[in-house]
Amino acid sequence: MMLITTKTKLADAICYNYLLIPLINRFGIRLGFGDKDVETVCKEHGIDADFFTTILNTFTFENYFSEKKLKSFSIPQWIDYLRKTHVYYREVQLPIIENHLNFLIKSIGNDDNKNMEPIGKFFAKYKQELLAHLTREDEETFPYIERLLALKDKPNSKEIYEERSKEYSIKVFEREHDNVDEKLFDLKNILIKYLSGNYDQSLCNTVIFELSRLENDLKDHTRLENKILIPMVEELEKTIKSS
Ligand SMILES: [Fe+2]
Ligand SMILES: [Fe+2]
Repeated sequence: MMLITTKTKLADAICYNYLLIPLINRFGIRLGFGDKDVETVCKEHGIDADFFTTILNTFTFENYFSEKKLKSFSIPQWIDYLRKTHVYYREVQLPIIENHLNFLIKSIGNDDNKNMEPIGKFFAKYKQELLAHLTREDEETFPYIERLLALKDKPNSKEIYEERSKEYSIKVFEREHDNVDEKLFDLKNILIKYLSGNYDQSLCNTVIFELSRLENDLKDHTRLENKILIPMVEELEKTIKSS
């Protein structure tokens, strides 16, 4: 398939890459849009079609990552999108994995359960770590960036920024921003290599598919935070510093 444009029928894009379904849901779009093109659907939902198309292409084509294009969108647009993605991880994707994993653990007889208890604990620990990561961005990093944006046009912005930057700056976030997808790879590997006993095969497959889906989604998400959001905020900090 050629790159998705605003003239592409949204249904064609979804048929080509069904993994876009949860992505369009994050923008508030539900299935049932008939033959409408991307532009029309976006207009109906009050979405910037250019931003939407760029995100769809980024998630569909591995080599499509135009930093110049991605940085042409505004910081508030990125924060809004990243926040929505956090809600999706927290309220949809993590519960899907947790529920299926719990059923899988229960489906295994007690005698064969030896590997399952540590797997359950591993996931519970991972979930706490991921939730803490998301909360930190939602409650510390994004509000910091929003305060920075509000500061930009104030007359004494440089002085206020210099005072505040002693406590936090985007460099701090960059230094501490960890890769939350790596442990999912480990968990998937444990299931693939060490699952034993009379387990429910289709449940196990669902857990592995959903773990892979979250892993890939998080990889793209982290890449956008590291390669797009952080450099854009660094630029903003520089502008304020030199004002
Ligand atoms: Fe994030
Ligand atoms: Fe992150």
